[in-house]
Amino acid sequence: MVSLTINGRIVKAKDGEMLLAVLRREKIDVPAMCHHAAVEPFGACRLCVVEITRAEWKGWCDYVTSCLYPVSPGLIVNTHSDKVNELRRTILDLFLARHPDCPEIAELAGEYGVFKTTYETVVGGNNCILCGLCTRICDRMGFTAISTVGRGHGKEVAPPLRQAPPDCVGCLACAENCPTKFIEYKLRKKRVTIWEREFELLTCTKCGKTTITKDFAEYLSRHRAIDAGYFEICDECRRKNLAVSMGEIVNWERELLT
Ligand code: SF4
Ligand code: SF4
Ligand code: FES
Repeated sequence: MVSLTINGRIVKAKDGEMLLAVLRREKIDVPAMCHHAAVEPFGACRLCVVEITRAEWKGWCDYVTSCLYPVSPGLIVNTHSDKVNELRRTILDLFLARHPDCPEIAELAGEYGVFKTTYETVVGGNNCILCGLCTRICDRMGFTAISTVGRGHGKEVAPPLRQAPPDCVGCLACAENCPTKFIEYKLRKKRVTIWEREFELLTCTKCGKTTITKDFAEYLSRHRAIDAGYFEICDECRRKNLAVSMGEIVNWERELLT
């Protein structure tokens, strides 16, 4: 374990742990649009920038992306100095110019007092900030169904050859974790459509609610050794079943003791 100082408070952390993880654990709010604890940090959005210094730096300081910065003993961190807030405002100002119709960016920018961009607005753009979270999560789950394609202004997230991705199982992890809600999907009755592919949803045999896609369940059974029967009921019914069983066990123990 190492000691560091964050916003004037001594904090313990594992040597080499990423600074953003420590900030999250300490409930210090730092914006981080391209971060997800389940995947490797990528450093795309730059919003998690913080100010760092050390006693031996004699007043000199640096600005680093906390998601990619490993902590070490004696580190002194300021997460909301004037300069840090100014850097975040500039990033959000640029985001607002590139993605003027994105409510998530507008809301975060508003929190930093940026209500209108000072740059020229990009007309006809989309809300994808190219943070790569969707592709990293899809890769991490083992599907690699989507990736970033093209270069420069033409760069975008898309399936191979921009066609319905054969490796997609409709798990929706890309869409649910997209910080700007750019990836759309449609739920209709017992089917879900994403990336121009339509999937059948399983139905809970107890309550009738739809759960995950049949393709996703088959993948989990095959590659994660989860029994196919596990997907026959939804999480809520599973919890209720467990609560009922626990109640029965408690009753049974009480009867044994009396
Ligand atoms: S689609 Fe969403 S998650 Fe994927 S790169 Fe764009 S903003 Fe990030
Ligand atoms: S829905 Fe398809 S593209 Fe999105 S994470 Fe799941 S497998 Fe990947
Ligand atoms: S969360 Fe660190 S750069 Fe995006």
